[in-house]
Amino acid sequence: MTRLRSVVRGCGSYLPRTVVTNHDLAARVETSDDWIIQRTGIRQRHIAEPDETTSVLGVRAAQNALRNAGIDASTIDLVVCATSTPDHTFPSTATQIQAGLGIQAGAAFDLQAVCAGFVYAVATADKFLTTGAASRALVVGAETFSRLLDWEDRTTCVLFGDGAGALVLEAQPGEGHSGDRGVLTSHLRADGRHRDKLYVDGGPGSTGTTGKLRMVGKEVFRFAVGSVTDVIAQAFDATGTTAEDLDWFVPHQANRRIIEASADKLGIAREKVVLTVDRHGNTSAASIPLALDAACQDGRIKRGDLVMIEAIGGGFTWGSALIRW
Ligand code: ACO
Repeated sequence: MTRLRSVVRGCGSYLPRTVVTNHDLAARVETSDDWIIQRTGIRQRHIAEPDETTSVLGVRAAQNALRNAGIDASTIDLVVCATSTPDHTFPSTATQIQAGLGIQAGAAFDLQAVCAGFVYAVATADKFLTTGAASRALVVGAETFSRLLDWEDRTTCVLFGDGAGALVLEAQPGEGHSGDRGVLTSHLRADGRHRDKLYVDGGPGSTGTTGKLRMVGKEVFRFAVGSVTDVIAQAFDATGTTAEDLDWFVPHQANRRIIEASADKLGIAREKVVLTVDRHGNTSAASIPLALDAACQDGRIKRGDLVMIEAIGGGFTWGSALIRW
């Protein structure tokens, strides 16, 4: 049965120019390169300068994705930006990215699901494209988490970085089976009972300030490894595929130990796992498109490959999407 699919036309990313190593951080708080690498796998992260706002990073990533797709920005009729660090409370970062690209048609909005934001954004754009509500979407994950960090708190400030990535998705006819190119299935979950395990202690509706990131690291770790694999099993079930069919597993890049424990639990071979957390740290909603772009640029992800993306974020929110590239 023929049906519309959201097919990947292009991928792009952008990282701030300043690199901060673990040694740089050890000069600011009581930590060490060894501790950070052993517990998280992170060696360095990019940190935005004041002129590098979330929308600036998002525009550059989107320009790279459009160039990679070989299409003109004026043909985009949907911009979805996943971010928890908008330039302003409003207007949305998506509208600023839209304006930065010179797009005047279609819809643009932000989507906030913290580190799961990019998976939520892909799933949302897919619904627009496969129902005919849009024809070409730019899906952006862009973050400046460095602005939310308490730089005195060694338990959180060593974990995060800034950056942006983007996909161009286009509605194209498919056959309705797992051999189709495009987003084959997506599965989203949330459980707000866990909101106090990972949160920002401010906001326009409460303190009137931006606030700082707070986290109960051990509990996030336990939940990330123990509970999020349900959405991956659902993706396999919905498409009749298995871990062996996957070419690449591109999870949210929070912590090497979480990623490897999840892959092992799912029976996904370690060599199929794309890892960028060592170079980027945790860039929240930007981490998956940054990792996708890294693996496309170095030739690992190729047209026709089966790629699973998966993430968990504050809320908790979590989700998966299975994409035939
Ligand atoms: N440098 C040195 N020592 C540190 C640091 C640091 N940066 N941070 C904490 N410590 C100390 C602690 O104070 C503690 O000392 P103590 O034993 O004297 O009390 C010791 O190291 C062990 O601390 P734990 O919190 O038990 O360390 P753990 O092994 O749990 O690792 C970590 C901490 C890395 C945060 C881990 O819990 C984790 O990865 N959690 C997941 C959180 C995560 O990835 N969040 C990202 C956002 S969520 C998301 O993206 C889904």
